[in-house]
Amino acid sequence: MSEKVQITKENPFKILFVCLGNICRSPTAEGVFQHLVNERELQPYFYIDSAGTSAWHIGEPANSKSQQMANKHGVKLNSRARKFETADLEEFDLILAMDRENLQNIRQLDTQNRFSDKIKLMRDFDPQPGDDEVPDPYYGGMDGFQHVFDVVHRSCAALLDELEEKIES
Ligand code: 4NP
Repeated sequence: MSEKVQITKENPFKILFVCLGNICRSPTAEGVFQHLVNERELQPYFYIDSAGTSAWHIGEPANSKSQQMANKHGVKLNSRARKFETADLEEFDLILAMDRENLQNIRQLDTQNRFSDKIKLMRDFDPQPGDDEVPDPYYGGMDGFQHVFDVVHRSCAALLDELEEKIES
């Protein structure tokens, strides 16, 4: 994260989580990050959203298995799917893709490479070494959704630790 970032109530930090369908991974990340922000009472300092690079599920709530997994951990997923749009590149301070394909699709919309510094992978913040992608759980069983939740949770916690140091109260 850039040293220059200063987060205030007047200038909240805007984070967008992005996956393919915006019904499994990115709604989980949005809900988990919001949950951690709420726990630390940092709500005024963050604006959190999610989107998909496809239009397949626009308007749908999070996948029922994602919701089940989140609920098990006390996290509510309230999002409705929307498609990532070019204006998001300007609007958000940090755009986190769940896998390399999402990353590439987002970068393709940044035709003049103006926003490359703020487009990253979710797992750039994962404190446990391993794969650099949050794998798509859509066609698999609950173990895949559990893995997504675990990876996303520890990555979001590490990201929030980093961002909390940029808050100027
Ligand atoms: P997500 O998962 O990108 O984590 O929301 C998927 C959801 C739907 C599909 C693929 C992945 N789909 O093929 O419809």
